[in-house]
Order: sequence, then structure tokens, then C-alpha cells
Amino acid sequence: MQAAVLHELGKPPRSEDFPEPSAGNEEAILQVRAASLKSVDQQLAAGTHFASPRELPVICGTDGVGSLPDGTRVFFGGPRRPYGAMAQRTVVPAAFCFPVPDALDDATAAALPNPGVSALLSLSQRAKLAKGEKVLILGATGVTGTLAVQIAKRLGAGRVIASGRNPQALEKLRGLGADSTIQLNQPDDDLRKAFSEEAGEDGFNVVIDYVWGRPTEVLLSAITRPEFAAVNSETRLVEVGESAGPTIALSAAVLRSTALTILGTAGIPSRDVLVAAINQVLDWAAKGALQIETETVPLAEIEKVWQRPESGRRRLVVIP
Ligand SMILES: NC(=O)c1ccc[n+]([C@@H]2O[C@H](COP(=O)([O-])OP(=O)(O)OC[C@H]3O[C@@H](n4cnc5c(N)ncnc54)[C@H](OP(=O)(O)O)[C@@H]3O)[C@@H](O)[C@H]2O)c1
Repeated sequence: MQAAVLHELGKPPRSEDFPEPSAGNEEAILQVRAASLKSVDQQLAAGTHFASPRELPVICGTDGVGSLPDGTRVFFGGPRRPYGAMAQRTVVPAAFCFPVPDALDDATAAALPNPGVSALLSLSQRAKLAKGEKVLILGATGVTGTLAVQIAKRLGAGRVIASGRNPQALEKLRGLGADSTIQLNQPDDDLRKAFSEEAGEDGFNVVIDYVWGRPTEVLLSAITRPEFAAVNSETRLVEVGESAGPTIALSAAVLRSTALTILGTAGIPSRDVLVAAINQVLDWAAKGALQIETETVPLAEIEKVWQRPESGRRRLVVIP
């Protein structure tokens, strides 16, 4: 069968022939229909992810959409190495196959669960977003941030502020539920002012952070109180990504003057929570309540597209 085969960490995979998988106990063989190409797939292949493969060759791809032997179309995750999602066939735990609603096309169903579940769980499980709260999404113009804006609204956020660099993407987010937008690529003083104005007296209740680095430092300086004052509300900042930088300088003043809690996102949630989240995002998308932009590429072109710069908010989906 044809597959995206990785021979060396740090090099792109190549489309080539690979032996067929066979199923073990409680495993399923799938005819793959579509597999998304995400930054985690690139990090795994680059050797920079903690779960990067130690034995090669392997097939790339961590999840996708395929057909079970009885024809059921499912979203799947967790292919058993050396098998991966970017192949004509793969082998996965049978428990990691979730039926896909008929209304969803293969590319959408392959692309949505990873960023959609991440956004949903960041908001609901980590930030514990309550109805009516004010939410700031840092990096809202990305694939995951765009979903976070839509999901925050669906969960009942009172006000959602979307921030990012791309002005067209920011404008489009208004149509997807953002109540206002903040341009991230402006001088620090202007950005600080924009954050302060949106924070207002009561501050942000929830911040979902896909960028970290300088924009997060500017945000934290904007919410630092300049005087002794009663603190009426807390801010829960969930750190999810590091598109703008891997570290920040964290001043004591922001933690001493505000009720700020910084949360991480590590750890796989319990199976029940995960299953409910996957079904929820697939259901929302099937009803047209959640949108993700995709671009399909044939498996034969995997080497060429692997290092391609990000295509805005479109997620690449490999068709084997
Ligand atoms: N489960 C998880 O842990 C999980 C899941 C999903 C994502 N993530 C992480 O979250 C981050 C975003 O993921 P994604 O899929 O949304 O990626 P993406 O589509 O590439 O989006 C990247 C976002 O970061 C912004 N950005 C990039 N470089 C920037 C810079 N130098 N300064 C300010 N903003 C910058 C982009 O803004 P513009 O497009 O407007 O320029 C865009 O909003 C990544 O670090 C990813 O690894 C983690």
C-alpha cells in the first residue's frame, strides 16, 4: 500500500510502498479516507516532540477518517506504530473509532476533532467557562483559535474578543461570533492600551492563549493593577500554544495585583470526557454550527507539502 513513510527524523516523509497492517486483539483495520496534517505531526517527525518515534521507518499521521470493514465511516486516532494515518490502510484500537455523521465530508471530519476538542476542553474543562463570562482568545486567527471563538460563543460566553495578526482573518471572525478584535502586530504601547480597554474594570474572566511570548507579556502588563484595589474578579489564563514564543517574563506584580491563575493543558482527559468532546464537535459541525477551512492534498505530494508554510486558517488534509 502507499503511505507517507518517515525514514529519518527531521526530514519530510515520502510517499512510497509499505507492508499492509494486520489487526491484533481489539484492533481494527481501516481503509483511510483522509488524514489531517497538524503541527503535532510535524513535531513528531522532526524529532522535537516527547513522543517522537525512536524506531524508524514509521508512517506519519496521528488521526483521520476511514472505513471499517463493514463500511462504517469513522474518525479514528492512535494508529499503532509503525503504522500511521497517512496511508491507504492503518491499524488502530477499535475503541478509538467514532462514527462520523453523514452530513460531514471526509476532510472536515478528519481536520476538526484535534483542534476542536482541544478548544472545547480548554474552555470547558480547564477554564471552566461560565455563561456570560468575557473571553479573550490570543491567536484567534489560527485553526484552533478560530474554533475556540465559535465554541466559546456556543458555550454561552458573554463577550468574545479575538486577537491575531491577519486583518482579513480577524474580520472574518466577527462573522463567526467575535464581539470585537485586537490586532496583535502593533507597537507594545498600543497593544497594551487595546487590551486594557477591552479588559475594562472587571478584566477578562478567561484567556485562551495559543501564542505565548511577547503578546502574552504585553497582555499581562495590561492587566497589572497600578494601585492597591479590591479585586472583584479572577482571570483564568489557559496556555495552549507557543506560536509567538516558547517563554515569557512573568512579573511578580501581575500575580500580586490581580487574581490571575495560569493553567496548563497537559494530560489526556478521561475517555468519557474525550468521547463526549469528539461527539460534540462532530455534532456541532454536522449541524453547521462549527466551521473549519480545509485544503486537500494527495498523498503522492506529501514530501512537497510537508514543510509548506501555514496556509492561514486552512488545515491541510491528506487524501491517500
Ligand atoms: N492539544 C494541544 O496542546 C494543542 C492543540 C491545538 C493547538 N495547539 C498549539 O496551539 C498553537 C496554535 O495552533 P493552531 O493549530 O491554531 O496553529 P495556526 O493555525 O498556525 O495558528 C497560529 C496562530 O498564532 C498566531 N501567530 C503565529 N506567529 C505569531 C507571532 N509571531 N506573533 C503573534 N501571533 C502569532 C497566528 O496569527 P496570524 O495567523 O494572524 O498571523 C495564528 O493566530 C500551536 O502552538 C499549537 O501547537 C496545541
